[in-house]
Amino acid sequence: MTTGVLTRQLAPGIEVQIVSPADFGSAAADLVQNQLAVKANAVIGFPTGNTPLPLYHELLRRQQQGQIDLSQLQPVMLDDYLGAVGDEPISFYNWLRREFFDPAGIAASRIWRMPTDPDGIDEACRRYEQGLVERGGVDLQLLGLGLNGHIGFNEPGSPADSRTRVVKLTETTTVANAAYWSDPSKVPHSGVTMGVGTILEARSIGLLVNGAAKAEILRAALLGPMTTAVPASLLRKVQKVHVVADEAAASQLG
Ligand code: PGA
Repeated sequence: MTTGVLTRQLAPGIEVQIVSPADFGSAAADLVQNQLAVKANAVIGFPTGNTPLPLYHELLRRQQQGQIDLSQLQPVMLDDYLGAVGDEPISFYNWLRREFFDPAGIAASRIWRMPTDPDGIDEACRRYEQGLVERGGVDLQLLGLGLNGHIGFNEPGSPADSRTRVVKLTETTTVANAAYWSDPSKVPHSGVTMGVGTILEARSIGLLVNGAAKAEILRAALLGPMTTAVPASLLRKVQKVHVVADEAAASQLG
């Protein structure tokens, strides 16, 4: 378990846990482990990106050591690219399978997949929401933080009551994501994401933030105005958010 942790309350119901980079994955994994300890078949929403990689490595390590039981976990997805269908390796679904679900032995049939096929996408987004309801709602939603304050693919301007839907990606996001593509011209310009409203309905939320590049936007999200211009600031509307930040990301929090 994580040691040497400083936990602060910056806003009502927002707990900020500041950890060394070496403890980041472990602190994030504790959120999952604590949730599974109270509900073995918890519904947990998983993000993609560089930020959660240490989380997935740590969960796999704990599973190999017999310290965590993922056998009943019900994973759901936060977002994906519109058009990243089938075996498209860059789809967030396939990324999550590669990095976490497959090595953890979580069968594809247990994963509630974000729809990505442009054909009939609006109806598929409604079905996605319905699937969350049928699972009893999300127990723990894990999130990264975009350089522009996005959560999932909820770019600046996303309303607090938005639901799962297709969104146009901003240039900041497509440029940041180009690093993942061998041909940057192929980066999709639309995503599909749980809405801000969908995210806020989760029974608990874990926001994972690391690196100096995120320090300013984390400060804006936690201490700046609560505004759709910084979607992550809307997390302060609900009092159930646990932020795990490494020291570099937390450096502007004062
Ligand atoms: P990153 O992405 O973890 O790759 O920085 C976070 C995000 O954009 O949500």
